[in-house]
Amino acid sequence: MIPQDYIQELIARTNIEELIGGYTQLKRAGRTYKGLCPFHSEKTPSFIVYPDNQSFYCFGCGAGGDAITFVKKINNLDYVESIKLLASRAGMKMPEEDDAQGRMRSRVLALNRDAARFYYSCLNSEKGVDARRYWRGRGLSDATIRRFGLGYAPDSFRETFYHLKGMGYTEEELLASGIAKKSEKGNLYDVFRNRVMVPIFDVRGNVIAFGGRNMGDEKPKYINSPETLVYKKSHTMFALNVAKKSDSRRYILCEGYLDVISLHQAGFDTAIAACGTALTADQVRMLSDYADEVVLCYDSDEAGQKATTRAMDLFESSNTKVAVLTLPNAKDPDEFIKRRGAEAFARLIEGAGNTLEYKMAKAKEQYNMSLPDGRVNYLKDCIKILALEATPTEQDVYAGRLAQETGVEKKAIAAELESAAKMQGKRRQRQIQRDLLKESAAANIRLPTGISGGQALGIAMAEQQLMAAILKQPNLLNYVKDKLNPEKFILPELREAFALILKRAEQNCSFELATLSGELSDAVMAQLSCILAQNYEMTFTEEDIQLYIDRIQTGQFQSKAVAEMQPNQLAEYLEQLKQRKRPTEHLDSIPD
Ligand code: UTP
Ligand code: MN
Repeated sequence: MIPQDYIQELIARTNIEELIGGYTQLKRAGRTYKGLCPFHSEKTPSFIVYPDNQSFYCFGCGAGGDAITFVKKINNLDYVESIKLLASRAGMKMPEEDDAQGRMRSRVLALNRDAARFYYSCLNSEKGVDARRYWRGRGLSDATIRRFGLGYAPDSFRETFYHLKGMGYTEEELLASGIAKKSEKGNLYDVFRNRVMVPIFDVRGNVIAFGGRNMGDEKPKYINSPETLVYKKSHTMFALNVAKKSDSRRYILCEGYLDVISLHQAGFDTAIAACGTALTADQVRMLSDYADEVVLCYDSDEAGQKATTRAMDLFESSNTKVAVLTLPNAKDPDEFIKRRGAEAFARLIEGAGNTLEYKMAKAKEQYNMSLPDGRVNYLKDCIKILALEATPTEQDVYAGRLAQETGVEKKAIAAELESAAKMQGKRRQRQIQRDLLKESAAANIRLPTGISGGQALGIAMAEQQLMAAILKQPNLLNYVKDKLNPEKFILPELREAFALILKRAEQNCSFELATLSGELSDAVMAQLSCILAQNYEMTFTEEDIQLYIDRIQTGQFQSKAVAEMQPNQLAEYLEQLKQRKRPTEHLDSIPD
């Protein structure tokens, strides 16, 4: 841990507009600075720097944070590295690095890199004959092998161990890296033996883990590094370090390492995969930093299709567009590319359907379309899907398409759709809520899964306003601190931030935004910057605070009006909020 007062001095000595001005041209606009966002491409500036609270926020892509998170994000550095960079800029000495864990982390990274080099050299030595033959048999060129750092772990219990030990790594470090394990007798031995090796990199290009594939059919097919100090599966995307350099923001998400490698070799440089686990919400969030669209390209077997459904659900609440690719007559992208070539795959990507089309195609597979019964059942399924998930325009388009497919008149289909939509009134309502939530994403409210509805949205907004008030006018915390328990918050990010602020206040430490990044994740920092940016012109009063507290405490707006609003009214209300008028005034002006 770097001491708080060090961070405070660092921040005091860092001029955020000057720092960011080194990356993008900033123009003064009142008390703020405006420029083109360095994190996404845009033609008109929506990136604002706020010297007042030393934060930045992009209204276009939602990137935000303080000086430290800016340096982290723009240079792909970790927290400590960013502090170092800022320290050298500010001419400050680095605080004593007494962080044992930090030291171990960098040792493990170095060890992993040396292990990858070792595996690569084994592949190109005499003992690597079979492994070389294996990679070549999979169609991989020498250039691809080099690019991905593929290798071979020798058929021995100690060779890798001795090699690394000879380089000066300790047994503790070897165990921490997951490359060696301890036997019952207490001796270390190699985890990867007689396997072809695939190193796994983090976004910055550090080797953080390995997957070792069996060259034959024996199980297990892969042995993977365990999670370590430097490897968190749910935070890692295989080949993202390569894909992020691509000009394209359309990513191809596959299932296996080898699919990814094969796609890259064929020129698809945005192919990526999760690492031996199902896709996680964290990965989806991470991807949305790089990708505007993700084409799901899982294996065509049942497991792959299940994974597709899961991924579709996860992406639903993100800003990333999703398309689903179906592989005709091939079990995975690797096989498809080999059989049909890169051009055919490119055409598949162009033709990848949206999630509605995917679901309808799945329904179609279940029926015999040459029988009237089959067509009717197919139609019924599709109507259900469309009634539930499609917008009116989509419903119209697909009603036309279904008419052609089934020979049923479009008018009849449209009528059925309408009544299905009504029958599903409740569910539709939920869909409307969901759309509303999407809209409120513009107000940057992300409700945790499992909590929904206008009520929750109202509470979430109160939490945001309260947070803005405390961050902008720290003395207002006095009105809050004994009245509100963080547990009451429904937004987990703000709950965490509020708890931290209370802790800091208790210790008489500063809790201005720019001092929080050491203890809050980038996502939380971005959210706080967003809240500040949206409330930049606001001044909060004690009464505002009381209103927010009541709302959070009781789960009810004082004005019942908001709690009882219809979704469209609520949307309007949100819209007004977005225009940054004072919500208190609006509460009064809402008709009962
Ligand atoms: P696959 O079996 O499809 O592997 O598993 P693959 O990488 O495509 O390899 P080939 O083409 O069959 O040779 C997909 C992913 O699931 C994980 C790995 O991440 C793999 O890339 N997996 C699979 C394991 O972790 N362990 C296993 O035993 C199998
Ligand atoms: Mn596969």
